[in-house]
Amino acid sequence: MRVFVTGVNGYIGAVLAPYLMDRGIEVVGLDTGYYRDGWLYSDNRLMRRSPYTIQKDLRDISPEDLRDCDAVAHLAELSNDPLGQNNPQVTHAINHLGSVALAAAARARGIPRFVYTSSCSVYGAATSEFVDESSTVNPQTAYATCKALVERDVGAMADQTFSPVFLRNATAYGPSPRMRFDIVLNDLSALAWTMKKIVMTSDGSPWRPVVHLLDICEAIYRSLIAPSEAVHNKILNVGQNSENYRVRELAQLVAKEFPGCEVIVGKSGGDTRSYRVNFDRIHRELPGFKCRFSAADGAHQLHEIFRRIEFSSEMYQFRAFTRLKQLRYLLDTRQLDEQFRWRTDAVLES
Ligand SMILES: NC(=O)c1ccc[n+]([C@@H]2O[C@H](COP(=O)([O-])OP(=O)(O)OC[C@H]3O[C@@H](n4cnc5c(N)ncnc54)[C@H](O)[C@@H]3O)[C@@H](O)[C@H]2O)c1
Repeated sequence: MRVFVTGVNGYIGAVLAPYLMDRGIEVVGLDTGYYRDGWLYSDNRLMRRSPYTIQKDLRDISPEDLRDCDAVAHLAELSNDPLGQNNPQVTHAINHLGSVALAAAARARGIPRFVYTSSCSVYGAATSEFVDESSTVNPQTAYATCKALVERDVGAMADQTFSPVFLRNATAYGPSPRMRFDIVLNDLSALAWTMKKIVMTSDGSPWRPVVHLLDICEAIYRSLIAPSEAVHNKILNVGQNSENYRVRELAQLVAKEFPGCEVIVGKSGGDTRSYRVNFDRIHRELPGFKCRFSAADGAHQLHEIFRRIEFSSEMYQFRAFTRLKQLRYLLDTRQLDEQFRWRTDAVLES
């Protein structure tokens, strides 16, 4: 089986490609390389298998790029932007329109399987009750809105020959060479190691479902190899019921892994909106799928890596490990234009 993996140089993609290749799947990658400046650590298990990768913008994809592929795993999008620092129009152009165009190209080429990495953020500000795949979506950001739109538009393309599957991932954690410190458990662990203190600006009461990135890789792998009737046009939350935590519980669990780390909880922000996600369906309906890791495992793995690489505050603060910081840098230094396309270097032209 040959799988076209977009976003292969991102946080999840950098681990997913060798994960699939270890299981006998051939991978062709696509990535534009926004975060190529960031590489946290080297691990032979991940580096000995690096896929052939097309360096191209998702918005420029053509059916020809998908030649000889049997499936697509689509990860290449701009990350969540809660404060609206990116232009929402660019988020729509890449995350919504780019994803729909990729699915259309796959379908036009007769590629039968399309695995999409959606997000639990589509549930948005729900109540503290459990939400599941049948709950109404309530996206709060351009990112989450685009996830819901891709599910709708690509879902409408499903037919006898084309089976999309929508994986609504919880917030990921765990080590990847293309690290992200802008996601909650990775961020808390980095704070615990570098500052020995986690200061929360709120009371940390909102619920957050989290999932290990290797469990996301397993969900993608199982979705690629499942018989079509098991996954055809299905939405599946990716995670496990026991991994819904209040943010302050995550902080306490991290502090336990990093002895001497103090947790200071702030005052209630008055915002009690939060949600817990039910993950029964994926365990019931996706053949062979099971989560292997807990948040405590993830904090422990991060601790091991930090110790090994002598992780420092400078590394924690480095722009390429925080998605919006890196994009801001590329825009400010005129490497990207306002549509987030690479500029041609005028110095070399003169
Ligand atoms: N990390 C999480 O917590 C999480 C949770 C839920 C869903 N997801 C989804 O999983 C996917 C991967 O997440 P991640 O954390 O690895 O993100 P990431 O930002 O680390 O990686 C995304 C990759 O896509 C590439 N990319 C972005 N725009 C592109 C474009 N226009 N053309 C070509 N390449 C482009 C980037 O260069 C980057 O390497 C995303 O779709 C994300 O929304 C992630």
